[in-house]
Amino acid sequence: MSEELKKEIKKRRTFAIISHPDAGKTTLTEKLLLYGGAIHVAGAVKSNKIKKTATSDWMEIEKQRGISVATSVMGFEYDGYKINILDTPGHQDFAEDTFRTLTAVDSVIIVVDVAKGVETQTRRLMEVCRMRNTPVIIFVNKLDREGRDPFDILDELENELNIKVVPLSWPINIGAKFKGVYNIYENSLDLFTPSKQTISERVEIDDINSKLIDDNVGEADAEKLREDIELIDGVYPEFKVDDYLAGKVAPVFFGSALNTFGVKELLDCFVKIAPCPKPIDAEERRINPEEEGFSGFVFKIHANMDPNHRSCIAFVKVCSGKFERNIGYKHVRSDKIMKFAAPTAFMAQKKSVVEEAFPGDIVGIPDTGNFKIGDTLTSGENIHFKGLPSFSPEMFKYIENADPMKSKQLEKGIKQLMDEGVAQMFTSTFNGRKIIGTVGQLQFEVIQYRLLHEYGAQCRWEPLSMYKACWIESDDQEALEAFKKRKHQFMATDKEGRDVFMADSNYVLQMAKNDFPKIRFHFTSEF
Ligand code: G4P
Repeated sequence: MSEELKKEIKKRRTFAIISHPDAGKTTLTEKLLLYGGAIHVAGAVKSNKIKKTATSDWMEIEKQRGISVATSVMGFEYDGYKINILDTPGHQDFAEDTFRTLTAVDSVIIVVDVAKGVETQTRRLMEVCRMRNTPVIIFVNKLDREGRDPFDILDELENELNIKVVPLSWPINIGAKFKGVYNIYENSLDLFTPSKQTISERVEIDDINSKLIDDNVGEADAEKLREDIELIDGVYPEFKVDDYLAGKVAPVFFGSALNTFGVKELLDCFVKIAPCPKPIDAEERRINPEEEGFSGFVFKIHANMDPNHRSCIAFVKVCSGKFERNIGYKHVRSDKIMKFAAPTAFMAQKKSVVEEAFPGDIVGIPDTGNFKIGDTLTSGENIHFKGLPSFSPEMFKYIENADPMKSKQLEKGIKQLMDEGVAQMFTSTFNGRKIIGTVGQLQFEVIQYRLLHEYGAQCRWEPLSMYKACWIESDDQEALEAFKKRKHQFMATDKEGRDVFMADSNYVLQMAKNDFPKIRFHFTSEF
């Protein structure tokens, strides 16, 4: 194994910031980029926001999606580390995109609003992190505003996110009286100076009893801080990096992204403790990033919105070895060797042609429809990466052809959009009709619009009242057949031909579970 490769892997930190919309993800991303010197003014990362947009304001979303390629991956150097932030769409209708992006990161930072606590989107995304044991750090944001008691927030984080937490910093008051943050991890006191661009003042403290604290925040608040820290010492276990890396404990930081407060502490701790790329389990074997042979997988496909160029960018996460431009790699699904003349890297929000990339890096490959989500590229070996599950959609509609002259185009369009991961398609085994499942209403509009503009095909939606699609399996083949026979009206297959039970209500699902104990029901396609 080459020393160069080893060194490059060690310095990589590939992660995503996730939050419920409005908690401060964009602001935090921007501040991290400011530290990395990747941008020079605040307000530069606004373009990736698909939010505050009425569902019907579809063109606006198009425009924003167009720009968001640039902000899909943001790479920068900081303190000798190479950091790759993978952006996730804010709009909850694109949650599936976010789920898939989480398969390409080595760790996650969760942003929580101190006034709102844990919100729905955060809870759902955390479930995905837990499934994959992804290490998470939590940043409690907006301390400059009135909010909840920090101890209550910690309780809520533990209960709602189902993970043990350890505070590594602690706020001195919040809202109008917010004075700063005591950094438990590094024993220092950061004083709050509300300023949107500059970095706050830091006082090094050797001991929590130091008089310096009283001098800076006043006796009363210093006393309260000491009581709080004593309580924290008593209640929360000592922070162990290994527990964090195993996804068992989440360190918590407090701050205000807008005021660039507590962000540096977060970043400094993050680069030190966050994992570099780790071995990944493929179906065939475990792939070590330090292996000489290159391997990577497609976790996202971004379509070009210009109908005249039906090209897209496939985002490949490098898993092992070194990726090089113009070298032939095997596209495992098609068993073809492909060369890439213009792979792009994403540094400082700019796309540029890249000669080489290392594990943890994301490479953008211009494509004209060869790639599907989950595809693997390798130096030659047949590798299939696991862990790119489809999640049970929440909204379902029958898709019908509205222009009989264009049925070929419709079929092709649907296939490609599904390969891109825009939504999921199921085929009813009962009547052969095609069902599209999404996580939000917006995706139906996206599909209809894109079918028309990119493929010249027209579709029509027909309502379908459905609760969940569950992938089913059983060790008992007879029981499985009996179930499929009894529920034949509600059976469908997914794109891989797997059996899916379309439950029309939670009640029906529960009944099915009771009546057929030998059947296992799954809400993701991988189990
Ligand atoms: P998101 O990407 O998670 O959706 O959140 P975003 O960063 O856009 O932040 C949502 C709103 O919260 C923004 O205000 C932002 O300025 C504000 N915000 C972020 N961090 C802090 C903080 O630490 N303190 C306070 N007080 N506010 C914060 P907005 O009015 O919705 O947008 P804008 O007009 O300021 O851009």
